Amino acid sequence: MDFSYPHNDTSRPERPSRTAGLNKLNVSEEVRKIRESAFARGIPVSSDETLQFICLQAAAAGAANILEVGAAIGASGAALLQCCPSARLTAIEKNRHFAAEAQANFDRLGLGDRVRLIEGDAADILGGLEGGYDFVFLDAAKVQYVKWLPRIRQLLAPGGLLIADDVLLYGWVNGEEQVPKKRRMLVQHIREYLEAVLSDGGLTSYVADIGDGLCISLKRRDV
Ligand SMILES: C[S@@+](CC[C@H](N)C(=O)[O-])C[C@H]1O[C@@H](n2cnc3c(N)ncnc32)[C@H](O)[C@@H]1O
Repeated sequence: MDFSYPHNDTSRPERPSRTAGLNKLNVSEEVRKIRESAFARGIPVSSDETLQFICLQAAAAGAANILEVGAAIGASGAALLQCCPSARLTAIEKNRHFAAEAQANFDRLGLGDRVRLIEGDAADILGGLEGGYDFVFLDAAKVQYVKWLPRIRQLLAPGGLLIADDVLLYGWVNGEEQVPKKRRMLVQHIREYLEAVLSDGGLTSYVADIGDGLCISLKRRDV
């Protein structure tokens, strides 16, 4: 299976956060099965803790227009749609096998008419989207986050939330673990992403030790 990016670039499992063992994922049985199937095949999907947290944030924000960059087989997208019953989802996925499976999963769950699944590279697709997203889940090639940020920031509605996954990357990004030589550039790009959102006056951002690290950015309403 072609994952299109080095998602499993170490033999180690994802670094667990201190709260990973306490939090519990509360999603439908259908979403649970999609996730189990992904784990069984080594398809990268968000950790339980991460998914629980993003669903909580999206529901609390009353998300109506969601963008997910990196949909894989649709597990997180389906969970988001189920916890935000009036929301619509635009989901981008580069891997054609994953995209086809995601569409089939959305259809089977009766969510197909609330989803626009776009197969392709986010680098090519983001520029053509209309915007006004009140919730963005960024979960694709980590190395590209900082490059995509200006466009994603434009696509984010005032008052919208942007959540980027895996920003601690096994503890490499915060210096907890030594960065393997071949991952230095990746870590540098993630640090640049964090620096960019944390120093942006139009955003209020927070790096949270949830899953393998989430960066949550709220776009100010007056920008
Ligand atoms: C961690 S997985 C997404 C998991 C999903 N959000 C979930 O939790 O169920 C990341 C996905 O991003 C996709 N991806 C990587 N680079 C991409 C790119 N440049 N454009 C679009 N998708 C990309 C990969 O094919 C992979 O399926």
